[in-house]
Amino acid sequence: MSFITSLTRMWLTRSVQPFTFKNEYDQTLPFAECENLGLYVHIPFCKSICNFCPYCKVLYSKELCEKYIDALVQEIHLVGSQHAGKKKVTSLYFGGGTPALAANRTKEIIDALKEHFVISEGIGLELHPDNVTVDVLQTLKDAGVTKISIGVQSFRDKFQNILGRKKIDISAMRSALEAVPFETVSMDFIFALPGQTYDDLKSDIDEAFAFGANHVAIYPFIDFTFTESPVAAMPKKEKRELLDAIT
Ligand SMILES: C[S@@+](CC[C@H](N)C(=O)[O-])C[C@H]1O[C@@H](n2cnc3c(N)ncnc32)[C@H](O)[C@@H]1O
Ligand code: SF4
Repeated sequence: MSFITSLTRMWLTRSVQPFTFKNEYDQTLPFAECENLGLYVHIPFCKSICNFCPYCKVLYSKELCEKYIDALVQEIHLVGSQHAGKKKVTSLYFGGGTPALAANRTKEIIDALKEHFVISEGIGLELHPDNVTVDVLQTLKDAGVTKISIGVQSFRDKFQNILGRKKIDISAMRSALEAVPFETVSMDFIFALPGQTYDDLKSDIDEAFAFGANHVAIYPFIDFTFTESPVAAMPKKEKRELLDAIT
């Protein structure tokens, strides 16, 4: 640890004691008194890893994913049974990683949660565009998912290339969304990529609504220091102007 980091730690903690990290977890989660409690389930698997992404994720393997979900279901019962009766919660959200890779076990996870919680405002789940097929969507819908969120980033090949993502099969995505409708279909976009203009972004958003979205999320590209992305972030002023224009 550098001298400056140590000094900052002492100043922040008002103590000269070093941090000690303990490998222990007391397995309680005191949620009984929480009002407006929402549930979040993390599924940390992706078919390929994007070098700009800051989230907790590992490369998908069926075996690892199955083991993870076995443990997750045990954890849900362990934590859920600490509360007598069923606790009312607002929503349940599956994020990742790419939770749609575990579509075949989503119902099992939701059923385990419903033994301990009453979900009043719907269930959301994130998909990669490759997961938007009739089979996967129908499996998710049958499991009780009401809101889907698709990580499009951009419909323009140029920006997919910059991000190291592959071209999206728009017509396959569009027909799957038509065949299996959801209450909310959200699409994620990343903006403020090198050379990206207002018109690029406007076309992305117009196309999102034309291809089946009824909600969009636009994230400014962030060059996280701990990722290995070679993409330079847009200067702050330009980014702000783009955000104001698109808003
Ligand atoms: C968990 S991913 C969405 C689902 C799926 N894994 C995918 O990528 O298609 C969440 C979203 O975070 C956004 N994101 C990831 N890295 C980002 C970064 N460095 N800057 C801004 N947004 C980022 C992307 O829009 C991505 O769709
Ligand atoms: S952006 Fe999505 S697909 Fe890419 S690594 Fe992150 S979570 Fe996985």
